[in-house]
Amino acid sequence: MATPLCVVFILVVSIRSCEGDLRFASYYGDHMVLQKSPERAVLWGHGPEGAQVTLTLSGPSKQNASVVTVKKGIWRVTLDPVEAGGPYNVTAAAPNCAAALTDVLFGDIWLCGGQSNMWLQTSKIFNASEELDFSAKYPHVRIFMAALNLSETEQTDLIQVEIPWSMPPANVAEFSAVCWLFGRYLYETLQYPIGLVESCWGGTPVEAWSSSRALQRCGLYRTNNSKDHESFADTYCKDCSLQTTGPKENSVLWNAMIHPLLNMTIKGAIWYQGEANAVYHQETYNCSFPAMIDDWRVAFHLGSGGQTALDFPFGFVQLSTYEKGSKSDAFPNIRWHQTADHGFVPNSRMEKTFMAVALDLPDAKSPFGSIHPRDKQDVAHRLILGAMAVAYNEKNVSFRGPFPKEIIASAPMSVNITYDQEVSVSPSKDIFEICCSGDQTPGGPESRWVAAPIMHWGATTVQLSTSLCPLPDKVSAVRYAWRDWPCDFKACPIYSTSGSLPAPPFDKPVSSQRKPGV
Ligand SMILES: *[C@@H]1O[C@H](CO)[C@@H](O)[C@H](O)[C@H]1NC(C)=O
Ligand SMILES: *[C@@H]1O[C@H](CO)[C@@H](O)[C@H](O)[C@H]1NC(C)=O
Ligand SMILES: *[C@@H]1O[C@H](CO)[C@@H](O)[C@H](O)[C@H]1NC(C)=O
Ligand SMILES: *[C@@H]1O[C@H](CO)[C@@H](O)[C@H](O)[C@H]1NC(C)=O
Ligand SMILES: *[C@@H]1O[C@H](CO)[C@@H](O)[C@H](O)[C@H]1NC(C)=O
Ligand SMILES: *[C@@H]1O[C@H](CO)[C@@H](O)[C@H](O)[C@H]1NC(C)=O
Ligand SMILES: *[C@@H]1O[C@H](CO)[C@@H](O)[C@H](O)[C@H]1NC(C)=O
Ligand SMILES: *[C@@H]1O[C@H](CO)[C@@H](O)[C@H](O)[C@H]1NC(C)=O
Ligand SMILES: *[C@@H]1O[C@H](CO)[C@@H](O)[C@H](O)[C@H]1NC(C)=O
Repeated sequence: MATPLCVVFILVVSIRSCEGDLRFASYYGDHMVLQKSPERAVLWGHGPEGAQVTLTLSGPSKQNASVVTVKKGIWRVTLDPVEAGGPYNVTAAAPNCAAALTDVLFGDIWLCGGQSNMWLQTSKIFNASEELDFSAKYPHVRIFMAALNLSETEQTDLIQVEIPWSMPPANVAEFSAVCWLFGRYLYETLQYPIGLVESCWGGTPVEAWSSSRALQRCGLYRTNNSKDHESFADTYCKDCSLQTTGPKENSVLWNAMIHPLLNMTIKGAIWYQGEANAVYHQETYNCSFPAMIDDWRVAFHLGSGGQTALDFPFGFVQLSTYEKGSKSDAFPNIRWHQTADHGFVPNSRMEKTFMAVALDLPDAKSPFGSIHPRDKQDVAHRLILGAMAVAYNEKNVSFRGPFPKEIIASAPMSVNITYDQEVSVSPSKDIFEICCSGDQTPGGPESRWVAAPIMHWGATTVQLSTSLCPLPDKVSAVRYAWRDWPCDFKACPIYSTSGSLPAPPFDKPVSSQRKPGV
């Protein structure tokens, strides 16, 4: 037993003798979680040029020490795969220096990004005090938060850390509620450590989080119209206490708050953003959002030396609500664009993604402005269903609300919608709307949207009346919940029978004939 004591002694002495010279990158720290097997965790840091750095792992499982050389001030090690568990100590040692991380666990790392609804802290949501008390029961869910910083150039390391790796309940109050709850529910299911990395900023458009490569694909690279940059905060949050003004310039948050993280191995990402794009490049969000996901995937894969999956799972929250009674179609358009105009995910454009529908969780009385609903528990629960199905390949998880499989004109004066699953329906006069085709005669009716009351419904079908159209048998399209604030709390007309998940909004053409064989 003499040897371990001796090692500890040498370590203490040597740390003192080379303070600051050899260190881990900003986002490696005591109490952290590193990505478990089958992936290999990447560790890196700064050190004196040319020094040989020996990295050792001590804890429940053993692996040989790795020796690497510091080049351009950076050393980097890819560990052998380590199974979930811990605690481990990780030591990086050079001839006269050492740096150590203690109480390190191996598990799954999830990155949490977006704007103020991701940023909204656990201390601000419904049942906050219960959630905070409860957090102490989850010592294996660990949290870390990057500070708000921007940069004109791609940074190697974070400029500043807001919350160093912490064990609950420490710092959970100031941590993203959606991210925390997602991690906690994930732990309840998986029963192994979860590491949560929050990097988000209120009031920011997707362009700020995208590299120039991603923006270029959507023709957004050269856009720099300062008129476009008028404050979103003024539009959305006149009198609320949250940080809702953020930078809008292309790539500045990608540069400072995402690029430094690329070399860490991660399991997946979740994202809550889009409000800012309701008033900024709304029409290109169907390109810019999927392009950002594609680009992050490639960049994290390359940055981790192939450890982070090239198609890592990406979950997001579809926009909730903002202004009751609003006629603006900005939120409906962004909700649709969040799915690359498919209405549901995953789809052919957005593979390995999952979405929490949130348009039925309005909160008119939120002290942080109605754009920041306080029910984040349901949001996180819906994300977890998607994560279990898409990220953890669990079969039989019902994670999507009902979506139309077929919409056909059904004479006289009706349209039949067939859903892809069983629906539970409450009657509504106006949540469905139909596009009444005009005729070509001068002075005749023009195309327009009118309400289409629900007439009948079955296990998987809903029949709508078209009687409010001037030409009731000429209906070209149907849309559902195409409003900023379509329903009261958990009271939309269409939910899934299994799982009570809300139907996402859609805007789809009507087929005039039943397809053969259907
Ligand atoms: C990690 O280091 C601490 C001292 O910093 C020590 O008390 C502990 O036993 C070590 N744990 C392992 C698994 O080596
Ligand atoms: C450590 O290295 C030795 C010699 O290269 C090798 O035989 C052994 O399998 C390695 N052990 C582990 C745990 O990787
Ligand atoms: C960014 O980082 C610096 C530290 O380098 C800090 O002083 C500053 O307050 C940070 N935040 C913002 C919003 O720039
Ligand atoms: C965009 O415009 C701002 C303000 O006019 C300027 O400071 C910035 O350098 C411009 N960025 C690019 C990429 O042209
Ligand atoms: C994106 O949406 C716009 C309308 O806002 C549409 O004109 C365009 O065709 C869509 N692009 C893609 C790639 O779906
Ligand atoms: C992170 O990965 C990228 C891409 O492989 C590489 O260019 C960069 O140097 C890496 N940074 C560090 C600190 O290892
Ligand atoms: C808050 O707690 C109450 C009582 O346990 C519960 O009924 C309610 O659903 C909780 N609210 C949320 C948003 O979780
Ligand atoms: C999936 O669910 C169905 C019906 O509930 C059940 O019959 C089937 O065994 C389940 N399959 C798996 C793999 O759990
Ligand atoms: C439309 O739905 C109604 C009520 O469920 C049903 O009676 C009718 O046959 C359907 N029409 C077509 C064309 O499927």
